[in-house]
Amino acid sequence: MWAELLPVGRSAASGGYRRFAWNSADAECRAWFEQQARDRGLTYELDRNGNQWAWLGDPAAPGAVVTGSHLDSVPDGGAYDGPLGVVSSFAALDELRARGAQFTRPLAIVNFGDEEGARFGVACIGSRLSAGVLSREAAYELRDADGLRLPDAMERAGYDPTAIGADDDRLARIGAFVELHVEQGRCLAEGQPVGVAGAIWPHGRWRFDFHGEANHAGTTRIEDRRDPMLTYANTVLSARKKAKLAGALATFGKVAVEPNGTNAIASLVRGWLDSRAADERTLTELVAEIERAAAERGERDGVRVELTRESYTPVVDFDGPLRDRLAKLLDAPVLPTGAGHDAGILASAIPTAMLFVRNPTGVSHSPAEHAEEADCLAGVTALADVLEDLACQ
Ligand code: GLV
Ligand code: MN
Ligand code: MN
Repeated sequence: MWAELLPVGRSAASGGYRRFAWNSADAECRAWFEQQARDRGLTYELDRNGNQWAWLGDPAAPGAVVTGSHLDSVPDGGAYDGPLGVVSSFAALDELRARGAQFTRPLAIVNFGDEEGARFGVACIGSRLSAGVLSREAAYELRDADGLRLPDAMERAGYDPTAIGADDDRLARIGAFVELHVEQGRCLAEGQPVGVAGAIWPHGRWRFDFHGEANHAGTTRIEDRRDPMLTYANTVLSARKKAKLAGALATFGKVAVEPNGTNAIASLVRGWLDSRAADERTLTELVAEIERAAAERGERDGVRVELTRESYTPVVDFDGPLRDRLAKLLDAPVLPTGAGHDAGILASAIPTAMLFVRNPTGVSHSPAEHAEEADCLAGVTALADVLEDLACQ
């Protein structure tokens, strides 16, 4: 399975993945998922939000145990973030069948659409829609960098967007969701190959629009300029400093400049802030401070600053009894994480847990992301143990 997925959507130039919602690499990943389901005699379903499901047992029966993750990537992402969870799910099912496991509940493997939000700016669109956290109306307004609306992108990819929205009945039939994921940090680096998630830091994305005035780079006197690049640059530095002081995180990883010419002062700089903290109060205060710093600097530069919150995920404390049950069963440590996941979205609606597989360097959202094969196999065994415990009593 790993070898089949490895070339899909991989850039020869960077070695990273460009599997974005509804693009051709995403379509190849989806075709692969469907084939895996059919090869195993599972019932394949595409839900109203474009999430893919592979069912063992009756999809309409209550109390299902669900596992899975996502197949899309960040720009130039690694091979493991997402696909490790989906591949491990199919591998765990194969292991359980080899063990002769007797299932007493339906089991499903899911591939959630657009987890990374690389194309439309909001992460976990598939699971957010299903959980009713993102409304159909808001989703219809989302646009990619070319201005194409989400429903139009879905339609172009051959999917019907008319029914997107909350999927209460489906979620109500799920008894537990367990997502396996590569660790995106180094908590496990010196320890065991598999850990259990305790909590996800609250996090969000904010777009700063710095409005200045386009002008000639060679003829405009310094004192006559209204250069938004200055305000942007100062905001980036100030965000970093304030985040460090707050024990939190602030990252500007994406920027767009208009008109984007070397010999023109920019008219507009758009910078996207990703910020995360251990608690919501710290996060809210940090973003407010960064906004204040941007506005003050904008005043000095003659630049108008506008702030838009594009997405937000409150703190996630995974289901206590389920977390403890998994940690005991696997004799595994419980770890917090600053990374967002579909499991974090679903945790508000159903008992949810996560397993992390050791990442020796901790590097993620990069082509250098890695996990050793032996650790991945330990992850499969751990997931099989968990699914057997939950779905076979
Ligand atoms: C997803 O991986 C995120 O944490 O942004
Ligand atoms: Mn990710
Ligand atoms: Mn992920």
